[in-house]
Amino acid sequence: MLAKIHSFGLSGLLGFAVEVEVDVSPGLPAYDTVGLPDAAVRESRERVRSALRNSGFEFPMRRLTINLAPADMKKEGTLYDLPIALGILAATAQIPPESAEEYLFLGELALDGAVRGINGVLPMLISARESGIKKVIVPVENAAEAAHIGDISAYAVSSLSEAAALLRGQAEALPIARGEWKGEAAEGYTDFADIKGQQGAKRAAEIAAAGGHNLLLVGTPGSGKTMLAKAIPSILPALTFEEALEITKIHSIMGNLRGSDSIALRRPFRSPHHNASTAALVGGGSKALPGEISLAHFGVLFLDEFPEFQKDALEALRQPMEDGTVTITRAAMRACYPAQFMLVAAMNPCPCGYYGGRQDRCRCTPSQISRYRGRVSGPMLDRIDLHVEMTEVGYEDIAGRAPGEPSAAIRARVDAARDRQRARYQGEGILFNAQLTEAHMQRFCPLDDKAEALLKRAFTALDLSARAYGRVRKVARTIADVEGSEVIRPEHIAEAVQYRSLDRKYWGG
Ligand SMILES: Nc1ncnc2c1ncn2[C@@H]1O[C@H](COP(=O)(O)OP(=O)(O)OP(=O)(O)O)[C@@H](O)[C@H]1O
Ligand SMILES: [Mg+2]
Ligand SMILES: [Zn+2]
Repeated sequence: MLAKIHSFGLSGLLGFAVEVEVDVSPGLPAYDTVGLPDAAVRESRERVRSALRNSGFEFPMRRLTINLAPADMKKEGTLYDLPIALGILAATAQIPPESAEEYLFLGELALDGAVRGINGVLPMLISARESGIKKVIVPVENAAEAAHIGDISAYAVSSLSEAAALLRGQAEALPIARGEWKGEAAEGYTDFADIKGQQGAKRAAEIAAAGGHNLLLVGTPGSGKTMLAKAIPSILPALTFEEALEITKIHSIMGNLRGSDSIALRRPFRSPHHNASTAALVGGGSKALPGEISLAHFGVLFLDEFPEFQKDALEALRQPMEDGTVTITRAAMRACYPAQFMLVAAMNPCPCGYYGGRQDRCRCTPSQISRYRGRVSGPMLDRIDLHVEMTEVGYEDIAGRAPGEPSAAIRARVDAARDRQRARYQGEGILFNAQLTEAHMQRFCPLDDKAEALLKRAFTALDLSARAYGRVRKVARTIADVEGSEVIRPEHIAEAVQYRSLDRKYWGG
């Protein structure tokens, strides 16, 4: 007899419907899985057989053929164990064959019949909801993740017998309650009030956070670059539910979300080591999984000791930085992930670190210096909107007791600036200034004559690229938003231009 069970699969972040067809026919006992299964799917045989027997069901000693349709999509992982086992039960009339029809099933089986959690439940259910599915059965471990999806009733089961009882009508199904979501402020980070002096760098960090812009900190050892970068999460704008879902989808396929951390509450802050491979950074590997740039989506990617990163890895960042997405192509699959991150990079001005410091201690030769800076290519530098120089804070600042402005106050301004941006870009499919396209800029970043003239002068004087021109305009838009001004004024342009002066000073000529 033939039974069909609905399940789901993932290709990148996009889910697709999978029909699990189980055919039980007379003949020598056999168990064949077809439909592009990976090793984990093929190994379901042992788990399914033991789980059925240990749950008190009969495992048919006949010829079993399991087909996962559509045949041209790769099926990965252990999530088909539960649908296969239920398919066998339906095909052998151990449960009413039509009882499973209205549900979608996902879950791995343990040998004793327990249902185990799986990765990627959130993106699968979001896609499932879009394709009109109303009821899903998921592992208890994934219940919290499933609880956030509206318009879909999710039921959590802890064992195969529980799932079977539910289908036989012997158990009352308890839909999982909709999750209550509320974004949280970052905790456990350095407060901006503890960073002495460095007003210019703090201001740049505020603008970067407000508009989602990239930031480069260049400075002597001990000037507080790493300290400042690590304090940035404390001033990042509050997360919206839609952003939280987007972030969570990516982390869900990495299996980073189980139990209480079922949905993102804060923006991610990722700080990979400079030894990180290109695949670790941008994504890849045999399963085409997302990399750090996608795990930092809607948050911060902090690259400390920037020139120490492998050249290939840095160059691989360029396209995603422009597009906000990354496409990974592997022999068997192609996955596309969002990667709208705010890059914060930190570096010394020269190999010894002391170039341009208060005491002239640098002994590096000009060629050593230019080779060092050359590791950060021109096109990469061009994509970083705000460059700031930091030198060690003076004694007065360090010893001074005057407390700086706390992160909460800065964050309030950042939030207000983001609200202004969200309202302005309603219906445009973007949320913040760093996402503005050329076409958007004509409409949303008009300059008055004076501002236009100023930008023109700076463009020639600093020898800026066309890309830098656009980026200066976006930063000026953010500065105006932080100042609460709808029009971009000359002083906003002037400040934005000033953040590009390092191109010339360190990399120019
Ligand atoms: N502006 C500052 N206010 C308060 N403390 C500071 C400041 N700058 C540096 N410090 C202190 O000095 C320590 C070292 O700073 P940090 O590690 O951020 O320097 P860095 O610029 O990253 O140096 P390196 O180039 O060596 O990586 C900090 O942990 C902090 O204790
Ligand atoms: Mg450092
Ligand atoms: Zn030096």
